[in-house]
Amino acid sequence: SLRTGIIGAMDEEIKLLLEGMQEKETTIKAGITYSTGTVFGQPVVLCKSGVGKVNAAVTTQILIDSFGVTQVLFTGVAGALHPELNIGDIVISSRCMQHDMDATALGFARGTIPYQEVSSFPADPELILQAEKACRELKQTYLTGIVLSGDQFIASSDTVALLRDQLEGSCAEMEGAAVAQVCFMNNIPYLVIRSMSDKADGSAHVNFAEFTVAASERSHAILERILQGS
Ligand code: ADE
Repeated sequence: SLRTGIIGAMDEEIKLLLEGMQEKETTIKAGITYSTGTVFGQPVVLCKSGVGKVNAAVTTQILIDSFGVTQVLFTGVAGALHPELNIGDIVISSRCMQHDMDATALGFARGTIPYQEVSSFPADPELILQAEKACRELKQTYLTGIVLSGDQFIASSDTVALLRDQLEGSCAEMEGAAVAQVCFMNNIPYLVIRSMSDKADGSAHVNFAEFTVAASERSHAILERILQGS
C-alpha cells in the first residue's frame, strides 16, 4: 500500500502539512525529525532534510529503510535558470542531475558520474502528470523541466548561462538530484516540486521570509491535490 515520504527544505514548508497531520508520531534519526501520520487522508512521513545533497541523501534513505515509504515528494524553493520563468512560478522535475559532479579533467561531460550507467534520474511519469494537473487546476504558472542540484547557491549570470547551455536546466537548487539518485538506487518513484525564489544571477534581492510563506502555500495546495488524487 501507498506511503508517501515528503521532504521539505525549510520549516515553513512542512509547517502547513504538519499542522494538518492526524495521528501524528515523531521519531528522530541521524538528527532529522520524522513525523508519521495521515495528511489529506493519506499515510505520509514528513521531514525537513536540511540543506545540501548529503542531508537530502541520508534523509531519503532513512525514509525508505526505516519508514517504508513507497514514493518520495520533495518541496522547496529554487533559483530559476529557464528564461521564461518568473519568481513564484513552479518547476516540476522531469529529471534531476548533479551539476557539481565534475570529472571533465578525465574526459567526462559535466554532470556525468564516472563509470555509472546513468547520471540523470527521471521523475515518476504518473506523479509528473498529477502535479501538472494540480497546477492547471490552481491556475499556477509552471514548467516541467530539468532540476539541477549542487552544493552551491547559484548567484551569477555566467553560471546561469553555463547551466542552461551545458545541462539544459530549468532551475537550480541543492537537494533534488540527491533525493532522485537515492530513489533510483532503491527503485522508488519520486518527484521534485520547486517554487522559484530568485533568478540565480545574484540580482533581484527577494524578501525570503515573506516569499517562503507564499511558496509554502503554493506547494501545499499542489501536494493536497497530488495526495488526494493518489
Ligand atoms: N535555492 C533557491 N535559490 C537558489 C539558488 N539560486 N541556487 C541554489 N539553490 C537555491
